Amino acid sequence: MSAVKTLGVLTGGGDCPGLNPVIRAVTRRAIQAGMQVIGIRNGWKGLIVGDTVPLDLQSVSGILPKGGTILGTSRTNPYKKPEDLKKLLETYKRLEFDALIPIGGEDTLGVATKLVKEGIKLVGVPKTIDNDLSATDFTFGFDTAVNIAMEAIDRLHTTAESHHRIMVAEVMGRHAGWIATYAGIAGGADVILIPEEPIDINAVCDIIKKRHQRGKDFSIIVVAEGAKFGDKDLTATEKLDEFGHVRLGGIGDALGKLVEQRTGFETRVTVLGHIQRGGSPTAFDRVLGTRFGIKAVELVLEGQFGQMVSLQGNLIIGVPIELGTGKLKTVDADLYRLAKIFFG
Ligand code: F6P
Repeated sequence: MSAVKTLGVLTGGGDCPGLNPVIRAVTRRAIQAGMQVIGIRNGWKGLIVGDTVPLDLQSVSGILPKGGTILGTSRTNPYKKPEDLKKLLETYKRLEFDALIPIGGEDTLGVATKLVKEGIKLVGVPKTIDNDLSATDFTFGFDTAVNIAMEAIDRLHTTAESHHRIMVAEVMGRHAGWIATYAGIAGGADVILIPEEPIDINAVCDIIKKRHQRGKDFSIIVVAEGAKFGDKDLTATEKLDEFGHVRLGGIGDALGKLVEQRTGFETRVTVLGHIQRGGSPTAFDRVLGTRFGIKAVELVLEGQFGQMVSLQGNLIIGVPIELGTGKLKTVDADLYRLAKIFFG
């Protein structure tokens, strides 16, 4: 019997295919070990206001293939207002939690890292479709997003070819261009633009023109939402979320206009947006989410708190949680160099 009797689980930040497989795995493994599992609704917000739901075998039945999160999510930051942090710590005590498994990205796990210092026992599970968390080879959700984006690129190819057009596909990726790079390589994009390298519009137009000179009168450009011409983000609104992030938007349109003006070739823009985050997870993401969930409970059972589960090669291990959130994992330069071989 574990020293942990009551285990809380929550999902925070943007949703992501694979969250439900983690919740299911955590619940099944923790119940097997004799724990009571409590789902906390809507990320850290649920722990501030005490919005919880008991999880049993019945409540996690049938959720494996479902997108989103049965617990709901929010971008609530309990460190924004001191009274929220106080309430969160009080709720944790009042509901007699012994440990938590927060599932989230840089923001949710950033809060978790601080809560460890407040004495909360927790094990984090990394999540983001952007795949930009350090200390893990992959996060679940990324593979699903890449497959959705790749299929969209395939579809754009046939219409681009028929109409002799340039198609710009804007994909997610706030700080890192992992989705753009993977989906672009898999879909045979002619140019891939990522936040890690400022866009050189002359170089992009040269590539497209040269392609036309060799008889290819259509092209596909994949651009990550966080890619920029200089160092200023293109934003959809001026509003910031509780973690200080802007809502990005507009780079696809801006790029499409410039490319059309400068090359003279008809151009269309498609913004994939939240289509990439919705729907059923791929087999890879279901398996990774399941493995992450099981390992998180096993670290709880071993009393290894302040850790985050991580995929390293084909092993799932625990690493100190601050390693995951301290620094963003940007696109590997070698991989981007490989992608560039196919530009044009
Ligand atoms: O962080 C994941 C992410 O999908 C980013 O790629 C994107 O910029 C952001 O979330 C969108 O967030 P929201 O759903 O809050 O608009």
